[in-house]
Amino acid sequence: MVAHNLRIAAATFLVSTTLAFAASLDVTQRATAAGGTAGCGTTHLFNGITQYHSLTSGGRDRSYSIHLPSNYSETKPYPLVLGFHGSSSIGFFFEADTGLSGSKYSADKIMVYPNGVGGAWAGANYSEATVPEDLGFVSDLLDEIRAGWCIDNSRIYATGLSIGGGFVNTIACSEVGGQFAAFAAGSGSFYTDNSGVTGGCTPARSPIPMLEIHGGSDPDVHYAGGPGEGGVEPAIPDWLSWWAQRNKCPSNTTETLFNGDVQHIVWECNGVEGVLQHWKVDDMGHCWASTTLDFSEIAAGQGPTPIDASTIVMAFFDQFTKP
Ligand SMILES: *[C@@H]1O[C@H](CO)[C@@H](O)[C@H](O)[C@H]1NC(C)=O
Ligand SMILES: *[C@@H]1O[C@H](CO)[C@@H](O)[C@H](O)[C@H]1NC(C)=O
Ligand SMILES: *[C@@H]1O[C@H](CO)[C@@H](O)[C@H](O)[C@H]1NC(C)=O
Repeated sequence: MVAHNLRIAAATFLVSTTLAFAASLDVTQRATAAGGTAGCGTTHLFNGITQYHSLTSGGRDRSYSIHLPSNYSETKPYPLVLGFHGSSSIGFFFEADTGLSGSKYSADKIMVYPNGVGGAWAGANYSEATVPEDLGFVSDLLDEIRAGWCIDNSRIYATGLSIGGGFVNTIACSEVGGQFAAFAAGSGSFYTDNSGVTGGCTPARSPIPMLEIHGGSDPDVHYAGGPGEGGVEPAIPDWLSWWAQRNKCPSNTTETLFNGDVQHIVWECNGVEGVLQHWKVDDMGHCWASTTLDFSEIAAGQGPTPIDASTIVMAFFDQFTKP
């Protein structure tokens, strides 16, 4: 019911913003910026204000919202970050929860928040879209964004929460993942990657940067794995060890912080430090970690956490460029 009302609100917003989008395309100003995509040279209106768009993918009506820096320049190729919401949610909520459109996090990035079918992403036993359908949507979405906006193709990233984090991993384990520079999941439910190094995961390259943040006290997506709401989830240490093998990371170091509440594990992969990273917050539940109380922390019935996922994820992305 909540998700249904959200879709109505989103649809209302769609109508009011479609006209704005149509007006914002100015094909007469096309020019190519060095290293940028076909969308370089296209001017846009209402920069700094999140706008809702729709597209058709695999015969389905799909949608997303996009946030440009307020000083967006159509001749400058920007890093692109896709942010995938959790279950029973929409992109606008993930945007509000994480604050990722704020200039503190993305003054020089384009943020895109795709919407899942039925408020979820593929991979769970309750998902309405199949894995090929949602991966096709990601591919079609990237094509549309590259054609309409000025994107640095070597700096495309994906992050997400809960099933959105799980879907980020599904992308990383697929051919479509080859278009991305790095991935980061918060409280991820890895339904499609629960059976070993090669079971259900064929990354497009190795190493492929991956970061995960998880609460040691998550009551929904248990740190120790097991049956979850939408299927069987791997134990987080097992899942990390699979990525360590996929990424050829022979060694790791653990940094213990905040009086032992937080453990930061960093792997060296193929000679590169930090390609695989994990943050475990012992007393954290199922949420997007934030040092200032966010909506998912309120919903999880807890206070702010010692670490800030949005800061950690964006700093992680800044270290990596697609080879
Ligand atoms: C936009 O503002 C940000 C943050 O102040 C700055 O880093 C960036 O260079 C500016 N971009 C342009 C195109 O002026
Ligand atoms: C989904 O999987 C979970 C965990 O295996 C199980 O408890 C639940 O009954 C399943 N639901 C459906 C609709 O299959
Ligand atoms: C870190 O590396 C050690 C030594 O290879 C290994 O035993 C341990 O399982 C690794 N830690 C994690 C969390 O995978």
